[in-house]
Order: sequence, then C-alpha cells, then structure tokens
Amino acid sequence: MEFAAILKKRRSVRTFLDKPVEKEKIEKMMAVLQYLPSSRSIFPTEFIVIDDREILKKISTCRDHGTSSLETAPIAIVVIADSVKSDVWVEDASIASTFLLLSAVDLGLAGCWIQIRKRKKGAVASDGIISDLLNIPPNYSVQSIIAVGYADENKISGKTKHFDLGKIYLNGYDLK
Ligand SMILES: Cc1cc2nc3c(=O)[nH]c(=O)nc-3n(C[C@H](O)[C@H](O)[C@H](O)COP(=O)(O)O)c2cc1C
Repeated sequence: MEFAAILKKRRSVRTFLDKPVEKEKIEKMMAVLQYLPSSRSIFPTEFIVIDDREILKKISTCRDHGTSSLETAPIAIVVIADSVKSDVWVEDASIASTFLLLSAVDLGLAGCWIQIRKRKKGAVASDGIISDLLNIPPNYSVQSIIAVGYADENKISGKTKHFDLGKIYLNGYDLK
C-alpha cells in the first residue's frame, strides 16, 4: 500500500473479527521492526507477541479502562524497553508502537494502541501488573500493548476529531 494511503487508513480499531491473524502476516509485521531508528543505536525495545486468548484476557485486566480492544483482538504485541539502558526509551518504544500500527494497516489488518506506561488499575501501576503476568525482568518497562486483528468496524469516514493543521508554523511559533 502507498505510504500516504496507510497513514490515512489507520484508525484505532477496538472490535475485531473472530478470525486469526496468519502466521505469515505476524512475521511480516515483526520484520518491519528491523527498520526502527533508535537513539544512539541502543535499541532498548523488545516485544512479546501474545496469541493465547487466556493471556489476552488476563492482560486486559491491567487497567480500569482503555483495554476493550483486547476483548476481541486475536493477537497483541506488548512493547517493552530496557529503561536502564536508554534514557529515551519512551521515545524508542513509541516509535516502535507506531511502526507496528502502520505495518498492521499495510497488511490489511487494524490495531489499537493501549497505553500502559503511567496508567493504573486502582492504585496499582499497570506496568507492574503486566510485568508480573508475563515474567518481564525488573529493568524493563512496559510502554504499550498494540492490539491487532481484522477490523470488525469501519471507521474510515467516522473521524470527528483531527489534528489541527493550523498548529504547524513556519520559522517560529505563531501565537496568532
Ligand atoms: C499515546 C496514545 C495512547 C493511547 N491509549 C489508548 C488506550 O489506552 N486505549 C485505547 O483504546 N486507545 C488508546 N489510544 C488511541 C486514541 O484514543 C486514538 O488514537 C484517538 O482517539 C484518535 O483516533 P484514531 O486513532 O482513530 O485516529 C491511544 C493513542 C495514543 C497515541
């Protein structure tokens, strides 16, 4: 798919068809990660692919809300990073999350970013809940979970709120 078409098509999809994602497509989506940029080429990010319904169900309980896409998603990718290795792991992990979402669209799939960093279930950090469930070592932080599958909703024409292109300035901030 043409790059601009992928960008336009991407929407946050939270309801998926009861249809597995082919192994070949998962591999292609993951292969795109080899093109990630990384500050000082540290590459602190790592990824856990989840295709087990029971585990998907368990990780969906890590927040009070915001995880509805995991109810029907056949797969999810947990984006983690070694936060000791890199001081800008958040940026690295965010770029990786975006790569995954756009790669999913390119393959005819859809996805949704589920924020984990800074999110809580009650008073408990979601990051810690996911780390316990998935056996993630202590020096790693969980940035996001990307739910992926075949869309069961058509949101293409439904976007009500867009980034305001008036917030792009030339040669300095424009207060107007
Ligand atoms: C940093 C970030 C965190 C997000 N967290 C969540 C989330 O936890 N749960 C969710 O369902 N959607 C989440 N989203 C999706 C946004 O709600 C969505 O991008 C926004 O409503 C715009 O809609 P669109 O993605 O369809 O263009 C997140 C998006 C970003 C960029």
